Amino acid sequence: MIDHEFGGQHTELKLSIIEGYLRAFTTALRPHFKKLWYIDAFAGTGSRTVRTERKGASLVEAPADEVVERRRGSAQIAIDTRPLFDFLVFIEKNKNYVAALNDLAAHNLQRKIVVAEEDANTALRQLVDNNRWDDKRAVVFLDPYGMEVEWSTLEALASTEAIDVWFLFPLAGLFRQATRRLPDIDESKRAALTRMFGSAAWESELYPVEAADLLGAIPERRRDLDPRGLEAYVQKRLSTIFSKVLKPLALPVRKGPQMFSLFLCISNKTPKAIGLATNIGSHLLDPKRHLIKSSTTK
Ligand SMILES: C[S@@+](CC[C@H](N)C(=O)[O-])C[C@H]1O[C@@H](n2cnc3c(N)ncnc32)[C@H](O)[C@@H]1O
Repeated sequence: MIDHEFGGQHTELKLSIIEGYLRAFTTALRPHFKKLWYIDAFAGTGSRTVRTERKGASLVEAPADEVVERRRGSAQIAIDTRPLFDFLVFIEKNKNYVAALNDLAAHNLQRKIVVAEEDANTALRQLVDNNRWDDKRAVVFLDPYGMEVEWSTLEALASTEAIDVWFLFPLAGLFRQATRRLPDIDESKRAALTRMFGSAAWESELYPVEAADLLGAIPERRRDLDPRGLEAYVQKRLSTIFSKVLKPLALPVRKGPQMFSLFLCISNKTPKAIGLATNIGSHLLDPKRHLIKSSTTK
């Protein structure tokens, strides 16, 4: 058994939102479509290991041993979704994780599952190119560690007009790469930002050129946007290629600085499909719902 430890409290919430969407998606579309696909582009192993540290005794609490639990990851959640997906694709580039995904597929031989040991961007673009999309609907889950998702991949997914994309956007990663001062961005950061945003326009949009002051000095170019401003910028960029992009959920919801923005991007252009995905997605992404939940479950 492979241990895949990742994420924090927000991981639980993220996966419960994905689970809720997958169930609603297959329930709503099963009567209308023969082919419903789930594509997990950063699939992991199908499970995740959660370790709760050992706690010493305090004046009010007894000591507690370390607890190690194995919980379901996104691939297992997709397999368990009812009504069923007809076809599941798990893309992963780590060899050991691919072996765990192959085991998962072997335990579910009655299902159509493909495990691809590939780079997510290359595999997704190939998948889009090699299939027709007018006879099926799909959900793609993009759950990278960092800024791995390339703009050309998002463009390919949007072009299908058949895929709903859940994208855990690494806002903290963007905040680090897009440093306050433009001169601090070296060539590798510049290339990473251009790959992620699809063009070099981010440079003038995030670091506007200011007019010279009275003495003729040109002010240094700086990014004034805070994390919320950057999130709004990302939403605006995604909205240039998808039919609709819902307001994302900031994660973690309660404590600490924002690390991620969980986006739902809809590629279908029909009002009916947009309406359905928006209804389900906006309910799941409503921060009030999660704040109430986390305060009542404390
Ligand atoms: C946050 S984990 C995904 C967890 C998974 N969604 C789950 O719930 O179990 C990110 C995964 O992406 C994989 N990964 C990172 N870069 C990748 C790439 N370029 N292509 C494919 N997989 C990649 C990592 O090996 C890791 O397993």
